Amino acid sequence: MEELHNLKNEALALINEAKNDQELKSLEITFLGRKGKVNQFFKNLAQVKKQERIRFGQLLNESKKAIEKALSNQKQLIADQQASDQQWFDITQPGQLPAIGHLHLITQAIREINTIFSQIGFIRVRYPQVEWDWYAFESLNMPKDHPARDEWETFFLDTAENQKMGKMVLTPQTSSGQVREMERLGQPPIRMINIAKCHRRQQDITHTVMFHQFEGLVIDENISISHLKGVTDYFADKFYGKGRKTRLRPFNFKFTEPSFEIDINCPLCLGKGCKTCKSGWHELGGAGMVHPNVLKVGGIDPSKYSGFAFGWGVERTYLMKSGLKIDDLRLIYSNDLRFLEQF
Ligand code: PHE
Repeated sequence: MEELHNLKNEALALINEAKNDQELKSLEITFLGRKGKVNQFFKNLAQVKKQERIRFGQLLNESKKAIEKALSNQKQLIADQQASDQQWFDITQPGQLPAIGHLHLITQAIREINTIFSQIGFIRVRYPQVEWDWYAFESLNMPKDHPARDEWETFFLDTAENQKMGKMVLTPQTSSGQVREMERLGQPPIRMINIAKCHRRQQDITHTVMFHQFEGLVIDENISISHLKGVTDYFADKFYGKGRKTRLRPFNFKFTEPSFEIDINCPLCLGKGCKTCKSGWHELGGAGMVHPNVLKVGGIDPSKYSGFAFGWGVERTYLMKSGLKIDDLRLIYSNDLRFLEQF
């Protein structure tokens, strides 16, 4: 009887661990088959003492039933498992690709601008985002208390002031790279394109506290306004497409003389004037001939060399591509995928 008991326990344990129908089938044969272990006991029934034969027979039947029940339970369990596996895993289905992102629109614009200028020999440089007042303003012909500084709405850092360099600021304009580039190269020719983050204390639908500018600086012998015009027209043609060109409008910057605002002709009327643009032109940004004082500070002889510079906002320039109508500049940095996925 004890042997029978052990046999039953062994059978139940093995059946519980069976993982598929094949395993179940072979367990069924082992225990309940014609030559199986349970039948072996039935064959031996005759040898059991008469008094115990009834109890032994009962136990044998119970054991057989228990094994049968375990087999059918396990069979059902395996079937259920397979059904639910199929529900979750269809091996014929194509794999799920992770969502693929793309470069931010402003990163795309920066790369495009960089490529356009590199094709005419400009070299991209990078200068500190946390900058000395000296490079941001003073070396650019803007003395400490000059009122024009107000226009740059500068962030000052709460750090100790340096005697020569002044306070530390977050670069308010990429023009801070001008004197740095003159110092880096020592002598002309200089063909710099400085694309960087700028910060100013202003935020509304046309301004974000952080934005980007790209600054061109060319210094060599006999550089004139016509070179500046040639470069801005080249850029307008490449970036905005055929028929787009620029015009120069007199303006005032302390670090250029003469100074200009550069306008781009309207994509719809190409400068004739229409309902959307009125004048035919849209303002792009500042430019001018590098002021002799700035050249001097950079260690370059203004009687021998001259140069031009321009500095425009990347966001503004990009949004002027025809067909783009964005009412609020702040959307660009809102991290809203519904907006970003359109670029
Ligand atoms: N840095 C000027 C600005 O931020 C633009 C500029 C650059 C003007 C170079 C002249 C020459 O407004």
